[in-house]
Amino acid sequence: MQDSVTPLLREAGITKEPLPPGVTGVGLRTTPDLFGFGLLEAVAEHEILRHADPDDRDHDGISGRPHWTDDGIGRFGRKGQVSNLTDFITDAWIYEQGITSEAEPDEQTIAGEPLPDGVDPTLDPEISEEDLEASIRFVQFLAPPSRVHGGMNAVRGARVFSEIGCASCHVPALRTDRHPIRAMSRKKVFAYTDLLLHDMGEELSDICNGEALPSEFRTEPLMGLRFSTIYMHDGRATTIEQAIEMHGGEATGSRDRFLELSHRKRSQLLRFLETL
Ligand code: HEC
Repeated sequence: MQDSVTPLLREAGITKEPLPPGVTGVGLRTTPDLFGFGLLEAVAEHEILRHADPDDRDHDGISGRPHWTDDGIGRFGRKGQVSNLTDFITDAWIYEQGITSEAEPDEQTIAGEPLPDGVDPTLDPEISEEDLEASIRFVQFLAPPSRVHGGMNAVRGARVFSEIGCASCHVPALRTDRHPIRAMSRKKVFAYTDLLLHDMGEELSDICNGEALPSEFRTEPLMGLRFSTIYMHDGRATTIEQAIEMHGGEATGSRDRFLELSHRKRSQLLRFLETL
């Protein structure tokens, strides 16, 4: 549901996309960054499944499960609802930008109604297959942001991160599979995610998406965290500490251990997070 429109739509009296009648839930989303997504796509499914523990057999309170889609394990989207970059980017062109392509040739409707006459003069498809493909490749090759050095305190903070269980979901590194592109083949990607769905508790809960339940979210990658200014799927946290305090559900134990950290260990942990 878009809350901003083109000038021509505004002239036609439409200022935002209305919610359809009878909605039962609303979920707000901030825009994710895209760095390193090509590498996340190249991670093998068996590598993701290695961290899954849907029935919590190891009794650590954390039971990540893969989001199975028709095309394999979902990796992209806050609920891991999309498994590959081609679909993710093709969907973004039509659903976020309203730009039709060969794969998504139909213009979007507004609350089920076609667009009013005259607001969409461009012939469909609005983006050529070649440009769509180029935009997918562009995202595929965006490198993950490199880490910065944070000194001894950051090194100690990384240890705290593991000790209190953050790394059980924010798995520091995943390895990519063999890949025809050498830069993507058998690389370690320090993404700080397991790409699995976790129950994050009632407070964060919003909508279903694919197989994901309202309270389930895919572990947000922490690579590039230092460039973010708002956190969590809807941007409700404005500091990293707030974001951690908002963890519930399977992350409750880890969050509580964070809250009990000494002042020194807490600042080491935050120092570490600022290097990502
Ligand atoms: C049970 C799995 C789990 C554990 C344990 C966990 N997290 Fe998370 N974390 C998540 C998920 C899922 C999200 C995304 C939640 C959302 O978007 O609402 C997230 C989001 C975050 C974010 C916000 C990222 C952003 O860009 O919005 C930060 C920061 C974070 N976690 C740090 C931590 C730290 C530090 C710990 C340890 C104290 C921790 N997490 C423990 C699953 C976990």
